[in-house]
Amino acid sequence: MAHSPGVVITSEARNLLWLTLELFGETAYPSRPELYPNKRKNGARWGPGSAVRDDNSKSPDIRDEFDIGCTATLLFSFASQIVLSNARVAAKHCQMKVLVLGSGGREHAIVWKLRQSPRVTKLYCAPGNGGIAADAECVAVDLKSLDSLVQLASRLSPDVTVVGPELPLTLGVVDEFQRRGWPVFGPTRAAAQLESSKSFAKEFMQRHRIPTAKYSVCVNQEEVLEALKLFHTPVVVKADGLAAGKGVVIAQTKDDAQRTAEDMLSGKTLGEAGLRVVLEEYLEGEELSFLVMSDGERVVPLVAAQDHKRVFDNDQGPNTGGMGAYSTDQMVDAQMRDWLVTHIARPVIAGMRAEGAEYKGILYCGIMMTARGPMVLEFNCRFGDPETQPIIMRMESDLLEAIEASIEGRVSEGNFRWTHDPAVCVVMASGGYPGGFEAGKLISGIDEAERIYGVKVFHAGTIRRDGAYYTSGGRVLGVTARGKDLPDAVERAYDAVMKVRFDGMHYRKDIAARGLKHLRAGK
Ligand SMILES: Nc1ncnc2c1ncn2[C@@H]1O[C@H](COP(=O)(O)OP(=O)(O)OP(=O)(O)O)[C@@H](O)[C@H]1O
Ligand SMILES: [Mg+2]
Repeated sequence: MAHSPGVVITSEARNLLWLTLELFGETAYPSRPELYPNKRKNGARWGPGSAVRDDNSKSPDIRDEFDIGCTATLLFSFASQIVLSNARVAAKHCQMKVLVLGSGGREHAIVWKLRQSPRVTKLYCAPGNGGIAADAECVAVDLKSLDSLVQLASRLSPDVTVVGPELPLTLGVVDEFQRRGWPVFGPTRAAAQLESSKSFAKEFMQRHRIPTAKYSVCVNQEEVLEALKLFHTPVVVKADGLAAGKGVVIAQTKDDAQRTAEDMLSGKTLGEAGLRVVLEEYLEGEELSFLVMSDGERVVPLVAAQDHKRVFDNDQGPNTGGMGAYSTDQMVDAQMRDWLVTHIARPVIAGMRAEGAEYKGILYCGIMMTARGPMVLEFNCRFGDPETQPIIMRMESDLLEAIEASIEGRVSEGNFRWTHDPAVCVVMASGGYPGGFEAGKLISGIDEAERIYGVKVFHAGTIRRDGAYYTSGGRVLGVTARGKDLPDAVERAYDAVMKVRFDGMHYRKDIAARGLKHLRAGK
């Protein structure tokens, strides 16, 4: 695995070269000691004995010069071999072949950023999408099959694999790759339980005194009825397993909560994911996505972001995968950032380590900023989608370097540099999403949108056919803009959105509105 880019000249090689040049200088110009002044101070120091001469010698003997010449030639060839071999090693490390797993807007942002790394010479994305194909070679894979992932990596032999979505992580792709000695970025299956099992996460938080809502884990209807007696309404009902954003219901009455839990427990609505449910105290406040990168021991926070889960403006309608996100410096000041690291991120990493499930990769902490202080809503074991889009737009350092630091156990503050400029991502979705929708609609205006300064259109559900883009998913595009301040970033993002067209498209008009309100209120 690479450590440092560029040509490496070790100090030994440098000294040998320097020595060689001095010797050559002396051989070529024996009568001009001013050209090699250091050499003469304490008499000659190198070569086979005969090179020793008196400092004041004006006419060096011819054998001395011959010996010095031979020594110089030998040293020169030795030094150049070291330099060449170092250069070869450096060149190999410079040529990084990277494989990104996933096919959404998050993966497009990761690929786009990795493409900017001078060391990435080959970039694959599996399976990728229409837009990603412009930045990486897309290769087919079944993300639900470990065999398929292992076969792909063994065929491509990437120097590093970056896992985008949660599913391969919870299936154990990192364990499989690590067993084969293949560098891979993300947590193991055991560590990813923080996301794949809400009951595991809640019990873990309780064991390690990490602030979170009160809860009860239930496996049958009797337990639900009993537990509901302890809750006020509204009450939050969560399926234990992965449910692609559909596993959380905020029930306004206890009857609703009971019915929802019953549906989940029967396996009718969410299959296996709902066979265990978590009832949770309803928390009020503003949500924050606080992501950190860890190497299993140390953590470094990324800039914070805010997601917009509901499908309609003013947080109305059903939950979605995320209709937009933004990131500003004002979301979390230095004091709050330290608090979140000290009381949440670090205890999680230390707790997982203590329990024998070292956590490496991105830890996404979904936080509710309540009147009682910040509380954890959930953990995700990877970058968020769409938070990654504005976060990556603000990243000025090399993403590959940070990923390697996580894999190699040397995460530090130095891994990231950020711009103070805020960034905003507006998701454009297919008509009907998050319910049923039609795919295959022609998309126009992406190039025009990207001509606006500071704008990048990340593709989520698109395919490319005959030189044109068509919709292929619920969330289609993440139109993302950086601006000198939040109003500027919002304006650019929506100007770009106005350039894009496809049948049935819809998007929220109030992404980052909360941030603008805080700004106006001077908070
Ligand atoms: N205890 C709670 N109180 C109030 N709202 C909550 C609570 N738990 C969850 N929510 C709301 O439900 C949303 C989804 O919950 P959660 O993040 O636990 O589910 P998820 O399906 O894992 O989400 P994601 O798709 O982001 O991973 C949260 O973003 C929040 O808006
Ligand atoms: Mg989650």
